Amino acid sequence: MGKVVVFNHPLIQHKLSIMRDKNTGTKEFRELLSEISMLMVFEVTRDLETEAVEVETPICKCTCHVLSGKKLGIVPILRAGLGMVDGVTSLIPNAKVGHIGLYRDPKTLKPVEYYCKLPADSENRELLILDPMLATGGSASAAINFIKQRGCNHIRLVNLIAAPEGIARIQKDHPDVDIYVAAQDERLNEHGYIVPGLGDAGDRLFGTK
Ligand code: PRP
Ligand code: URA
Repeated sequence: MGKVVVFNHPLIQHKLSIMRDKNTGTKEFRELLSEISMLMVFEVTRDLETEAVEVETPICKCTCHVLSGKKLGIVPILRAGLGMVDGVTSLIPNAKVGHIGLYRDPKTLKPVEYYCKLPADSENRELLILDPMLATGGSASAAINFIKQRGCNHIRLVNLIAAPEGIARIQKDHPDVDIYVAAQDERLNEHGYIVPGLGDAGDRLFGTK
């Protein structure tokens, strides 16, 4: 079973509290999502492989460590995942960026696919899926399926807020995928929204409601 890492860092919790507030506007919401994504990816990448290299400083030669192993890629789930891209690429500027377009049918709550473009060499990369909300888990599970169909089996899921239902769904469908969240909330309501959550992440990010 994949692990679930819940960040309890004070800076992340502080920023997330402001995002949850219904009076926080689009500009601040967008900035905070980007900042939290950057803080999270610092921890998400903690166990990446490194290798020793020799570096000559102005003083002497020394052994240092640089990233080795699989190259990274990030895959935001459209739309709301786009709000996490800048924060992540500010720390991993060479990451290739794929996109998966999914929206949740409001009646059935099932994910509907409308776009999928992944890095050509996805099978050789470690891919981070980005989406602020893990509610029923249907969208994230479908996105992971697309990625696995391309031969990539090194996947981490990065969410801002997860419902227990979404975490359980990913652990059942994809026990090999680790999940990283800033907060685990209480439950889903009858419309499939996370409680207390922050409302509709895509609408709040892009100001469409
Ligand atoms: C939201 C969110 C996730 C999905 C989560 O997207 O960004 O992708 O819902 O719900 P689930 O876990 O029940 O599948 P939405 O469908 O609202 O699309 P949008 O980002 O384009 O607004
Ligand atoms: N999608 C959102 O944007 N918010 C939720 O609470 C659930 C799904």
